[in-house]
Amino acid sequence: MTSMNLLNEISIRYPDAVSFAAGRPAEDFWDLDAVHRHLDRYVEHLRTERGLSAAAARRQILQYGRTKGIIHDLIATHLAVDESIRVPAESIVVTVGCQEAMFLVLRALRRGPEDVLLAVSPTYVGLTGAALLADLPVHPVADGPDGVDLADLRRRLTAARAEGLRPRALYLVPDVANPSGASLPLELRRDLLALAAEEDILILEDNPYCVFAGEDRLPSLKALDTARRVVHLGSFAKTALPGARVGYVVADQLVSDGAGGTRLLADLLAMIKSMTTVNTSPIAQAVIGGALLEHGHSLRAANTATAALYRRNLALLLDGLARRFPPSTGITWNTPRGGFFLVLTVPHLRIDDALLERSASRHGVIWTPMSHFYPAPGGTHQLRLSVTQLTPATLERGLDALATLLTHPTP
Ligand SMILES: Cc1ncc(COP(=O)(O)O)c(C=O)c1O
Repeated sequence: MTSMNLLNEISIRYPDAVSFAAGRPAEDFWDLDAVHRHLDRYVEHLRTERGLSAAAARRQILQYGRTKGIIHDLIATHLAVDESIRVPAESIVVTVGCQEAMFLVLRALRRGPEDVLLAVSPTYVGLTGAALLADLPVHPVADGPDGVDLADLRRRLTAARAEGLRPRALYLVPDVANPSGASLPLELRRDLLALAAEEDILILEDNPYCVFAGEDRLPSLKALDTARRVVHLGSFAKTALPGARVGYVVADQLVSDGAGGTRLLADLLAMIKSMTTVNTSPIAQAVIGGALLEHGHSLRAANTATAALYRRNLALLLDGLARRFPPSTGITWNTPRGGFFLVLTVPHLRIDDALLERSASRHGVIWTPMSHFYPAPGGTHQLRLSVTQLTPATLERGLDALATLLTHPTP
């Protein structure tokens, strides 16, 4: 939790620094008028396609609403169009960002003190924070070169069970992950699903960046899931508007209803949601719903310009790194297939908050120490670079500053 605060605080204290730190999406194509247009489009949809009266449509947008949300049907169609994920709309809960979706799922999984969560490490800090609030300990699993190390996963499961613990699920970001930029190869996706079935654990697939994972991107775990092993977490923060705070969870698993029968996990999540945020703002949902309708339910179509911007910046970043850090420097980096982030490894330097502070104050460039993303100690020689909020000029300036910091470090 202190990680998030520290990074926000550094960005505020050094507003002129070039930021490779922001996980925020680009603002270049935002348009306030579009918010009104999308709201109107959704209301028109309620009136013409759903046959609601003007009063009923008004109530739908302005009144307290359905706990599981009002745009679940549009999200189901969007998932089919963009991701080839086919799930009943009833299995979707629309949440206040993906952050709430994570919390609801973790809270539902936590039935007793023996329950634990496995998470591919490095891990998104929001997941670690949600697990802390849900009182669900996180056991790290190595990411390995391909995004998850299945041998380590097996070892961690065995070790946890030997301690009398009950591993409930594995959390990971399979496409252009935050923070590592890694994407799981297809075969590994299939092997992971097989292992989850064998070990009887759920997979929590968090996929907020999948739209930016390149043209030849691979099917999501949920698209490959034939046994309801995968709980799929989604966000409209990177593909529509972060300010709308709309995300969702697909939870089509059947769980006990406590009375001898079963119910959808989505319905259990809705019960927890009714005691946390009651319902996701229908006004915000309507804006997202209108955006989906305007683009034929496809966020890929809606994000062609943004995706091109990120692709260009990533290519410039990779090229700029290669020009500044020849092999003789010992500095290396990964080559993500898209997304927001890459990871730089600097074997000769300890990458920590003190170095970040010096980087910001003396060199005018900020980035994220990878150590913030490790539940256990790790990442002490790595930093995360984000490409979303840069122009070619700021990118070059920032890389020059970074090269000075990393190759001529002064105390
Ligand atoms: C991996 C991952 N999951 C979830 C989120 C949070 O999404 P939301 O803004 O919808 O809560 C982020 C945001 O940066 C993220 O990187």
